[in-house]
Amino acid sequence: MTLKKFRMSFFLIVAFACLYLFMMNLIEICIFCQKRNEATSLTIITKNGTFLQLPDINCSRTPPFLVLLVTSSPGQNEARMVVRQTWGKQRLVTGKRIVTYFLLGTTENQNEQTSVTAESQKYGDIIQKDFLDVYYNLTLKTMMGIQWVYKFCPQSRFVMKTDTDVFVNIFYLTELLLRKNRTTRLFTGFLKMNELPIRRVFSKWYVGKDEYPGSTFPPFCSGTGYVFSTDVASQIYNISESVPFFKLEDVFIGLCLVKLKINLEELHSEQTFFPDGLEFSLCRFTKIVTCHYVKPHEQLLYWHKKAGNIHLDCKQKY
Ligand SMILES: *[C@@H]1O[C@H](CO)[C@@H](O)[C@H](O)[C@H]1NC(C)=O
Ligand SMILES: *[C@@H]1O[C@H](CO)[C@@H](O)[C@H](O)[C@H]1NC(C)=O
Ligand SMILES: *[C@@H]1O[C@H](CO)[C@@H](O)[C@H](O)[C@H]1NC(C)=O
Ligand SMILES: *[C@@H]1O[C@H](CO)[C@@H](O)[C@H](O)[C@H]1NC(C)=O
Repeated sequence: MTLKKFRMSFFLIVAFACLYLFMMNLIEICIFCQKRNEATSLTIITKNGTFLQLPDINCSRTPPFLVLLVTSSPGQNEARMVVRQTWGKQRLVTGKRIVTYFLLGTTENQNEQTSVTAESQKYGDIIQKDFLDVYYNLTLKTMMGIQWVYKFCPQSRFVMKTDTDVFVNIFYLTELLLRKNRTTRLFTGFLKMNELPIRRVFSKWYVGKDEYPGSTFPPFCSGTGYVFSTDVASQIYNISESVPFFKLEDVFIGLCLVKLKINLEELHSEQTFFPDGLEFSLCRFTKIVTCHYVKPHEQLLYWHKKAGNIHLDCKQKY
């Protein structure tokens, strides 16, 4: 390589690096961003829209101890099947009833829509309303679940909101909830007390000043898995109309909790929620509640190794 060519490539690399850094840090000019959701969509869809699919349960006859609400998209039927076969299978844990339902929006793909309806008839575990199932509608999806609890299942004791790519140790969660011995104004999970909005335009979590003018977020729990007593669902549902819509569902719930003056609490003195994932180990997994980034085949693998079996004799700490 001649010196001239070398200089040329060096210059190009530096130029691209500068361009990249500039783009990543663009703050206000957002020419590629889609038009933002209108604030009104939340009330219109969550309060007035009818449920297209409802799960097969009468909560006043068989009140669950814990309702697991799992956000999922129409195309993720494999992930739902795996959850049904593992931690989401309806069961009693130390005599407490646990049920798992999936939260779905709608899709423009007619085949997928038809198969969701068939799946709902077959398994009776789908909650669906008519809004487009896209990432930025996750707040609507969560609020749909909360509305369902408020309207159809106020008899339950606790609610957990989680996702299909999360492993949930329902045994340890039940044990900790019973040990906590609290049935009202409880909200717990992986606490995020001092998060800042991401102002980098190309981030998945980019937040414009028009959407969220504040410089810090309220305290909230990671959306990968949070748990609350059922009275909190009704209170969030009630207050949500007066909270400005925000697309990041976990932060939106945090904004509601601030208004309700409900404080976040740790479920245990040691970390039990793992939103950033955790390497699998049988003993370690007996003492966790959630682990994020778990693929369908790993859900099966962990479950069949009896992960979550809190009676496992684990001599060494992990
Ligand atoms: C649920 O069960 C209760 C008590 O058995 C009954 O009164 C009510 O009508 C049932 N609701 C529905 C929707 O079937
Ligand atoms: C959310 O769903 C509504 C109702 O289907 C739709 O009008 C809106 O475009 C969706 N939001 C996004 C960001 O696509
Ligand atoms: C649970 O709390 C109630 C009152 O808040 C108390 O009476 C009861 O003894 C507690 N039970 C346990 C097992 O700590
Ligand atoms: C709902 O909110 C209103 C005020 O916004 C309040 O007066 C009412 O008590 C709340 N109801 C419940 C069930 O929390």
